[in-house]
Amino acid sequence: MNVEVRYYSKSGNTKKIANAIAKQVGISAKSIHEPLQGEVDILFLGTGIYAFDIDPELKEYISTLNPTSIKMVVVFSTAAIVKSAYEKTKKYLQAQGLNVSEKEYHCPGHYMILRTGRPNSDDIKKAEQFAKSIINSL
Ligand SMILES: Cc1cc2nc3c(=O)[nH]c(=O)nc-3n(C[C@H](O)[C@H](O)[C@H](O)COP(=O)(O)O)c2cc1C
Repeated sequence: MNVEVRYYSKSGNTKKIANAIAKQVGISAKSIHEPLQGEVDILFLGTGIYAFDIDPELKEYISTLNPTSIKMVVVFSTAAIVKSAYEKTKKYLQAQGLNVSEKEYHCPGHYMILRTGRPNSDDIKKAEQFAKSIINSL
């Protein structure tokens, strides 16, 4: 089974969660600037929220994904205010023809004076448990 983790992270919060998920799977998390190779069973795809949306660069990346070589995308996200980037990310993934899991992971991410210290160790632990539950459900 080929599992990949890719993230878009401006300030490192989503990258922390990506690393936790990847560690649980036994692989390395990479930024969206590193292309996927071959067939992918699960793509964990993470992002922050910027100006109440996902970044144009992530939208562009999603438009390059090949739905015939990726079986399922699992979205994870961090944000200071909004509760998740799932719906916004899913919209672009589905428009590209990709299969998106109904399960997602989200936790707060610090921004300026908001959500100081997040993601914290509990957020990391929950991300690891989430990754384990996805892998075990296969
Ligand atoms: C330029 C910018 C705009 C942001 N806009 C929002 C926003 O509209 N809503 C929100 O909930 N968080 C917003 N945030 C906070 C980020 O979503 C939050 O810090 C997230 O954890 C960032 O993830 P990253 O560190 O992986 O980039 C913004 C952060 C930045 C840097």
